[in-house]
Amino acid sequence: MRFLVTGAAGFIGSHLCERLVADGHTVLGVDCFTDYYARPLKEENLQHLRHSDRFELAEADLAQDDVAGMLERVDGVFHLAAQPGVRLSWDTFGIYVRHNLMATQRLMEALRSHPLPVVYASSSSVYGDVASLPVKEVDPTRPVSPYGVTKLAGEHIVSVYGRIGGFPVTSLRYFTVYGPRQRPDMAFTRFLAAVVCGQEVEVLGDGEQSRDFTYVADAVEATVCAMAHPTGGIYNVGGGTRATINEVLVIVGDVTGAPVRLRRLPKAAGDVLHTWADTASCRGEIGWEPRTGLRGGLEAQLGWLRSSAASGQSFPGARRA
Ligand code: NAD
Ligand code: UGA
Repeated sequence: MRFLVTGAAGFIGSHLCERLVADGHTVLGVDCFTDYYARPLKEENLQHLRHSDRFELAEADLAQDDVAGMLERVDGVFHLAAQPGVRLSWDTFGIYVRHNLMATQRLMEALRSHPLPVVYASSSSVYGDVASLPVKEVDPTRPVSPYGVTKLAGEHIVSVYGRIGGFPVTSLRYFTVYGPRQRPDMAFTRFLAAVVCGQEVEVLGDGEQSRDFTYVADAVEATVCAMAHPTGGIYNVGGGTRATINEVLVIVGDVTGAPVRLRRLPKAAGDVLHTWADTASCRGEIGWEPRTGLRGGLEAQLGWLRSSAASGQSFPGARRA
């Protein structure tokens, strides 16, 4: 089959494109290389795909460019393009509105004329701080960051267009995804890079906040399953490896074999205290389950960071001295 993947040069999008190509599909990727992080890192994400004759990249901004022609060439759409990141969304909200709302609405408007199954990348951040864990899809959504608000609004936009247009739209609420190519602003990339470079690890808050960490290949598997079972539902995608940041840092010390020196900083505004996904619906309705443990996943991420550095490329996540 032929698929459109938005956000193809990003962390999760590039892994998804590789998986689709490996499965024998043809992929049209679209990305506008936002400056949320450096373009060379996104070019590195694409380096294997660039060698495939079943992958093509269109450099286009969904918030302003015409995508109708792209939709004519595919059988389904994975919409991952977004301005990510919880903590920066206070000061630069206009950018979040542009890339998470305007871009999504324009893509969905184009789909009215070319109805296709859609999988939308939503986020655990739509929940905010919940009353009881693990959180279910039917629980209240009360985001505590502007980013979370835009991801929730995105869910509503895609759902409205899907209902009116009569095409299935499935939303996946990914829970903190990690692994090779993780974005340079995210915790694991920053932690591993700091420890390997002999720098202090910056811990936001007391480190007792927890996340249901999801390995990227597991997140991609859920995404592929969602397209194969276009139920039109909303599903939690959590890796089942819940840990506190303090627990993660012990594993980071183990896998790197290096001392972990901490620098404590205040808790970040918009950070939820705990996430933990109830994944019964995802398992039961689209047949997905996560497979990767936290230690193995962190080792894979460390291997990627080391090979990026060894090949003379930028070292993602490392701070300037
Ligand atoms: P990423 O920043 O690595 O990838 C997003 C890509 O989208 C970037 O390459 C960017 O250039 C592109 N993009 C942004 N706006 C665009 C536009 N208007 N037109 C074309 N391209 C555009 O982020 P990621 O971590 O891979 O996240 C992918 C998706 O998953 C996002 O929707 C994010 O909100 C969601 N998500 C990620 C996580 C996580 O832990 N990484 C968790 C929950 C949800
Ligand atoms: C991640 C993604 O960045 C969001 O795009 C996504 O929507 C969200 O997951 C989600 O699950 O929906 P977050 O959980 O904040 O957000 O992931 P990290 O950036 O990896 O942070 C994890 C925890 O580590 C947070 O509590 C954060 O405060 C902490 N942290 C992060 C530090 O203590 N130090 C750092 O240097 C970075």
